[in-house]
Amino acid sequence: MVLRLVFLGPPGAGKGTIAQRLCEAHELLQISTGDLLREEAKRGTELGNKVKAIMESGEYVDDSIVAELVENKLKELGTEKGFILDGFPRTISQAETLENILDKVGFELNGAFDIEATDETIVERLSGRRSCGKCGKIYHLKNIPPKEKGKCDDCGSEVVQRNDDKPDVIKTRLETYREKTAPLVKYYEEKGLLKVVDANGEIKENMKNVEMILKGVE
Ligand code: AP5
Repeated sequence: MVLRLVFLGPPGAGKGTIAQRLCEAHELLQISTGDLLREEAKRGTELGNKVKAIMESGEYVDDSIVAELVENKLKELGTEKGFILDGFPRTISQAETLENILDKVGFELNGAFDIEATDETIVERLSGRRSCGKCGKIYHLKNIPPKEKGKCDDCGSEVVQRNDDKPDVIKTRLETYREKTAPLVKYYEEKGLLKVVDANGEIKENMKNVEMILKGVE
């Protein structure tokens, strides 16, 4: 079965970390809207500057901008390769748009994973997060450090802190998530696609849980 998954869950719960490992193990494409938007911001275009300011405030970027990025990625995909939509959809409107996009490209989702962690875990994870400035691989200063301090294991580039991982922005991101994204849990539950993952434990344990859930999906 070709895996076509959506990852929901509060900021810092571990969506990206789990998605990166799962994509490597199952040869899936990770489509992270956060990464796509950060790439846009780096380009320094008018749109990029607008996106950067919104992300650094902890609010969400316009649905139409994000949907276009996702649609382009999905259109490039062949029918053989599966994907994880990491951080999309984040609003009911985005979920409805996703259904239209999937209809157009002829794909069907087979799971919506809700990656959950407590606020305490989230704050600890986000304050220590570092990621590779080039390839995006995610680390944590204490929990999952790079082998060589400050350098990415995979490409050797510098690992950096994200601009939105500051305490006041983290607070807004959590509030935005609760208001706009949390309702999607019910949305996907009603569609029979929801799988809840308790991601508070160690990464090895999280991966084991996710793989077990996947066995039920496949
Ligand atoms: P995005 O980049 O998607 O950020 P997010 O959803 O806030 O999620 P994070 O990337 O912060 O956390 P994560 O759950 O992936 O955790 P991670 O694996 O890194 O979005 C950023 C912004 O872009 C949004 O705020 C919004 O403005 C905009 N945006 C994006 N998508 C959008 C959309 N669809 N619509 C509108 N706007 C959109 O892990 C966190 C840390 O914990 C890491 O350091 C990691 O090493 C560590 N860690 C992970 N798992 C474990 C573990 N088991 N044990 C110990 N440490 C762990």
